[in-house]
Amino acid sequence: MTSHRWDPSQYLRYGDERTRPFLDLLARIPGDARTVVDLGCGRGNDVAPLRARWPEAAIHGVDSSEEMIVRARADVADPKATFETGDAATWRPAGERPDVIVSNAMYQWIDRHIDLLPAVADGAAHAFALQVPGNQDAPSHALLASVAAEFGVTDFRRVDVRDPAEYLAALQRPGWDVDVWETTYLHVLQGEDAVFEWIAGTGARPVLSRLEGVEREAFVERYKAELRIAYPPQDFGTVLPFRRIFAVAVRR
Ligand SMILES: C[S@@+](CC[C@H](N)C(=O)[O-])C[C@H]1O[C@@H](n2cnc3c(N)ncnc32)[C@H](O)[C@@H]1O
Repeated sequence: MTSHRWDPSQYLRYGDERTRPFLDLLARIPGDARTVVDLGCGRGNDVAPLRARWPEAAIHGVDSSEEMIVRARADVADPKATFETGDAATWRPAGERPDVIVSNAMYQWIDRHIDLLPAVADGAAHAFALQVPGNQDAPSHALLASVAAEFGVTDFRRVDVRDPAEYLAALQRPGWDVDVWETTYLHVLQGEDAVFEWIAGTGARPVLSRLEGVEREAFVERYKAELRIAYPPQDFGTVLPFRRIFAVAVRR
């Protein structure tokens, strides 16, 4: 297993498509919140949708990437938003429980996170909500693995995402109402090698970070060629079906 670093600017190229699932998640969290914790907050992109949902709340973002936290502190002007470097696998509220804990597109990077979820939910006074990508079996990921293997990269870090039913089973306990669902968005991407550009900022990073120089260039060309076959460009753009899994647990 090898760690990899996030590339905030590449990730943000598709800001709208990546924000949409978070808006859909927030829409299903009922009630008010005075304090919200965002696990895997990245560079603070989630703050604006959180602020729109809870105009008065104090928002605290936690991310394991120091680079992301530096960017968040520099870029987010919201006076009631604070940020902290920390590992969501072990992070727990220091004092009073926050009303709401949310996490957008982060838990897939924590192995066996399903076992952690009940304790994380217990850390929220009102609700815990998460969204994870569910596209680990999509052609984009299968091709990533097969082309990476051609370049001798087989031990790169893979995501751990479970079936929606497992999230329901983990969070459905006495005293909680739990809502779990999945959605496949059909993103219409523009530009050349649009699917590669999308995945270069997220799923492909563990492989890209393992390769350098001409070898990296050769991998990129080979992977792009396979992606063009799997996701053929059409007149209106390139369609990337993207499955996402959502869970919202609310105390009764
Ligand atoms: C795909 S980005 C999502 C960022 C943000 N939530 C958003 O929706 O724009 C995933 C984030 O999870 C963070 N991350 C990965 N593993 C983590 C962990 N164990 N604890 C905290 N953050 C983690 C990464 O550093 C990255 O910022």
